[in-house]
Amino acid sequence: MTTTESAREPEQSSRAREHVAATARRLAAEGLLIGTAGNVSARLDDGRIAVTVTGVVLADCRAEDVTVVSATGEHVDGRLAPTSELGLHLGIYSSTQAGAVVHTHAPFSTAVSCVSGMDSLPVLHYQQLLLGGEIRVAPYATFGTPELADLVVAGLRDRQAVLMANHGSVAVGSSLAKALDNALLLEWLAALYVRASGVGAPRPLTEAQQHDAVAQAITLEYGTTKENPR
Ligand code: 13P
Repeated sequence: MTTTESAREPEQSSRAREHVAATARRLAAEGLLIGTAGNVSARLDDGRIAVTVTGVVLADCRAEDVTVVSATGEHVDGRLAPTSELGLHLGIYSSTQAGAVVHTHAPFSTAVSCVSGMDSLPVLHYQQLLLGGEIRVAPYATFGTPELADLVVAGLRDRQAVLMANHGSVAVGSSLAKALDNALLLEWLAALYVRASGVGAPRPLTEAQQHDAVAQAITLEYGTTKENPR
């Protein structure tokens, strides 16, 4: 490692710790994280992970409440011990390209995760296609266990989010901003499902409708601003 690289290293990790803490506070402000429930992490350029510490009240999370570990979980920086779900975060990083991971006990996502016989959240709205389609409900396992980590990793295959039975949600993204957006979108979709179910039987989009929505989104470059044609 060159002198410049080693000088940049602490700067990178302190920025990442600030950013992880700010994301945790934002999720709490949005009502997706309550008390100490949930955790947030980001992968640094060199593969280390900045992750919230266990027991932190996420609404008050500061950079010192974010610790840095190696890709295999060895302590690198920070006074406090990492989240009890460290194995889940590391498992996702080792098996996907994710740059950030958000775990919440968001009210509607968690409610949907508690419904007997529901093994996925169907696609009622085309916006769910941004998360990859139907969202799996990973089978229940005790929090903080390798078993839960494996079930979550499997449930995330080709998806940006997964529900954890009787527990909550996990959303990933290429960055903290993307993972946050995905967690908010999943919560909106879970709320949509709960509200639609209260009126009658939800009507999922067909495969053909989903396919057409994806094609239209590509054609229109949906979700981006454009110059007004003159
Ligand atoms: P930690 O405080 O250890 O992050 O645990 C919170 C949680 O939500 C476990 O699933």
